[in-house]
Amino acid sequence: ARVFALIPAAGMGKRMGAGYNKQYLALDGMPIVAHTVRVFQEAACIDAIYLVSPEQEIPFCRSEVVERYGFTKVRAIVPGGAERQHSVHNGLRAIEGIAPDDLVLIHDGVRPFVTAAMLEASVAAAQASGAAIVAVPVKDTVKVVRDGVIAETPAREQLWLAQTPQAFRYGLIRAAHDEAAADGFLGTDDASLMERQGKPVQVVRGDYTNIKITTPEDMILAEAFLKEKK
Ligand code: CTP
Ligand code: MG
Repeated sequence: ARVFALIPAAGMGKRMGAGYNKQYLALDGMPIVAHTVRVFQEAACIDAIYLVSPEQEIPFCRSEVVERYGFTKVRAIVPGGAERQHSVHNGLRAIEGIAPDDLVLIHDGVRPFVTAAMLEASVAAAQASGAAIVAVPVKDTVKVVRDGVIAETPAREQLWLAQTPQAFRYGLIRAAHDEAAADGFLGTDDASLMERQGKPVQVVRGDYTNIKITTPEDMILAEAFLKEKK
């Protein structure tokens, strides 16, 4: 099966409060999303890349990311939607010539510390089982809180933090997205759309450095991880 990467980068970065889209904030002089795409460009297991961008930023994304860094595996930059799920759905519908048994790895544009090893592990797991996500065990105790009062303390051993990549056989994730859209269901990740269909999703252990750059303090962490990597 062929392996396609789908990278949603069409958010507004509201929680970052940078005044412009956080995926273009520079880390070591290079936009965050370019760090991310580079990992896919250089990974032998990835055949083609689709990026999702806000429609009005597609020319900027093409010149400042794809052309500037020579990302030859990028096949198209697809216009995003109002929510992440819409952006991913647009991307899934835009992949040309993909077969139901081909694999698609969906990965947040703002997770630049993904590694080739994570890509390979999620490809292998999805190849074997149809669906797999990268996740890490929670470190803190998690409380369910209602009206400012603790309602429940779920057992920590069974709690994991979902990351990306989330890898699927195309036929499965396409059907899950089509059905969620038809039902008006909105999830915050792609696996949840398969879960609501009762389909099993494997979990591959990721890494605590694979953060999603979301709020300003994440930039401080990102600089530190980058320094450590060099
Ligand atoms: N994303 C997207 N389309 C959207 C919303 C999000 O493609 N309509 C992408 C983001 O660009 C990001 C990933 O999904 O790469 C994870 O989303 P998140 O961290 O929530 O980013 P934003 O939505 O940009 O941030 P915020 O929620 O703070 O506005
Ligand atoms: Mg968001």
